[in-house]
Amino acid sequence: MRDLKVFSGSAHPALARAICEALGLSLGRSHTVRFSNENLKVKIEENVREQDVFVVQPSCPPVSEGLVELLIMLDALRGASARRVTAVLPYYPYARSDKKDEPRISITARLVADLLEAAGADRVLTIDLHAPQIQGFVRVPCDQLTAIPILCDHLRAARDLRGAVVVAADVGEAKDAGRFAKRLDLPLAIVDKRRSGDDEKARPVHLVGDVAGRHCIIVDDEIATGGTVFEATEFLLRAGARSVEAAVVHPVLSGRAIERLLASPLERLIVTDTIPLPPEKRDPKIEVLSVAPLLAEAIARIHDGRSVSGVFG
Ligand code: R5P
Repeated sequence: MRDLKVFSGSAHPALARAICEALGLSLGRSHTVRFSNENLKVKIEENVREQDVFVVQPSCPPVSEGLVELLIMLDALRGASARRVTAVLPYYPYARSDKKDEPRISITARLVADLLEAAGADRVLTIDLHAPQIQGFVRVPCDQLTAIPILCDHLRAARDLRGAVVVAADVGEAKDAGRFAKRLDLPLAIVDKRRSGDDEKARPVHLVGDVAGRHCIIVDDEIATGGTVFEATEFLLRAGARSVEAAVVHPVLSGRAIERLLASPLERLIVTDTIPLPPEKRDPKIEVLSVAPLLAEAIARIHDGRSVSGVFG
């Protein structure tokens, strides 16, 4: 493809390479140096003058360093006269800081949007934002893709879904879970979850819908500490569910999530590769589906000036 280049920060080169493979491109060459004073330097090692450039950098540990590396890359590309630069954020940084729900706190997801624009992003491409308002924080054009069809298609192909029920992990997830249920032609149930603070304790308190004797597919945008999914699993089993699996877009898997997964009666956790899974976070209970073809298709459409909503078909 003419004038199109894809670069990767340090966060997830495997995903960037898979995107390039789908596009028939080689990954753009760049190099990041971390000095002993913890400053970063990024050098773009090929000409990008008048090119349409995409930089792939999902948010993953070390989160803040990954964000700074991305900002430095965007600035370097703008300084190197790229014609247009798109920040590709399969998992958006600080996505859970999306509202002012306590006094004197920052809405950091909005700050990130401002920083991306200030650093040189002309566009943003992302997947399943934690909250819809984040798209509005980004003042440059922002395309939000969804991995729900990837998860649904996999479930439909791999399981006998007769008698299954889709379960929204919390009320906030009900809309997305509804789309999931519609796509799979399954009923929907909703767990009413309460969280008391910034801890791992997410307590399910009520259930809307019927799960008795059914296989439950818990749906959520992300799994972080796992509090939501694992507590919901036990809650559903106590309510008479036959078995439980979860389909989640972003595998943050922070804190004691893996330890809790091993101990949980959850049968399976289906996730995507928006975030890399280091070896210590891999487990036979986790199935990983790739979003690389979805991102490659969106990148090709943005580059050609074709509609991105066609990807959702
Ligand atoms: C909550 O609003 C989200 O949809 C997820 O349920 C939440 O981010 C998951 O976090 P954790 O795994 O720590 O419960």
